[in-house]
Amino acid sequence: MKLSSNNEKKEMVVTPWEVSGEIDYTKLIQQFGTQRLTDDLKERIARHAGFMHMQLRRDVFFSHRDLDLWLNEYEAGHPVGLYTGRGPSGSVHLGHLLPWFFCKYLQDAFGAHLYFQMTDDEKFLLRDELTLEQTVGYTYENALDVVACGLRPELTHIFSDTENIAQIYKLGLKVSKRITFSTVKAVFGFNDSDNIGLTWYPALQAMTCFLQSYREGRNVACLIPAAIDQDNYWRMTRDIAEKMGYYKPTQIHAKFLPGLAQGGKMSASQPETAIFTTDDPEKASKKVKRAFTGGRETVAIQKELGGNPTICNIYAYYYFLFESDDAKLKETETECRSGALMCGDCKARLARMVKIFLVDFQKKRESARDVLDDYWIK
Ligand code: TYM
Repeated sequence: MKLSSNNEKKEMVVTPWEVSGEIDYTKLIQQFGTQRLTDDLKERIARHAGFMHMQLRRDVFFSHRDLDLWLNEYEAGHPVGLYTGRGPSGSVHLGHLLPWFFCKYLQDAFGAHLYFQMTDDEKFLLRDELTLEQTVGYTYENALDVVACGLRPELTHIFSDTENIAQIYKLGLKVSKRITFSTVKAVFGFNDSDNIGLTWYPALQAMTCFLQSYREGRNVACLIPAAIDQDNYWRMTRDIAEKMGYYKPTQIHAKFLPGLAQGGKMSASQPETAIFTTDDPEKASKKVKRAFTGGRETVAIQKELGGNPTICNIYAYYYFLFESDDAKLKETETECRSGALMCGDCKARLARMVKIFLVDFQKKRESARDVLDDYWIK
């Protein structure tokens, strides 16, 4: 079950289940057939939001499909919706939060309902070592993280595929009737040894694209903010949407927050190289201090030649999440390149920021226990 996005260069693999190798985002746009996010589209979003989110300014969200149509709907006075999700297989890490923070920005900007799918079925079917009780347990734990992102309860509908099956099964069935086995084999690379649950599951992830429309009995354009690893689902869903009487779902795709080690995205399967929202803040700050950087072999060489922020994970965390001030980010970059800033100092500053972030986020996460029900699908 593996779809290589580039067969000649064996390295780059981007699928919902595996992201590895050096990611070439321009190639992904070509291979997945998406469109690059233009300044015009970014500005249209910013106009409604009142400001341009740093993830737009910095091309962290870099690609889309039909975002213009979704914006046209909104600008014509029609309702628009949002959809994203999580495969609850363990704790949430900073990479997961990236699209969720962006959802919060879009929810505020457009007053849009957000459907948030917890795919405890998917992760149970996919991972031999996980029991269903565990993935359902993670659903509730991970939902605390979703709430801690600051979403609005009256506009948010979190649901679990297993616990809320009654609300979603009929629509899931209607979707599944439109998708052949040969399509899912071609799109996801399933083979004869994959369990049959997994081959049906894509219908449920596709289903949520139409869930708001289905529940409200009118057509609501749906935008999905997520990293580009989930794109296989949307390619498949777009092919059946209009036949079912719905708009094609719109996507806005993010790049991957890297892990702390050299190469690859932040991934829960490598816990030492990921920062989890449940990490002890002190422990997380130690992880940061062990991160791969763009530094030189010795301080003397670095002073002379400067560091390389382009390949540095510490710089990437400032860039993706932690330094919202563009001028300060530029200063960090310039000081690094000139040799004035040493990796130890740069790491220590980020470690402090990560610690402060986690202390605050964990407080919000704990408070979320009391209000989780307000965010749950009714
Ligand atoms: P999951 O749990 O693998 O990932 C949850 C969300 O986090 C994004 N993501 C990242 N973004 C930036 N940097 C990273 N290092 C990083 N790692 C993960 C993913 O793109 C995703 O947006 N099958 C899905 C669950 C799902 C879903 C959806 C996701 C159901 N419906 C609709 C997005 C949109 C899954 O297992 O996600």
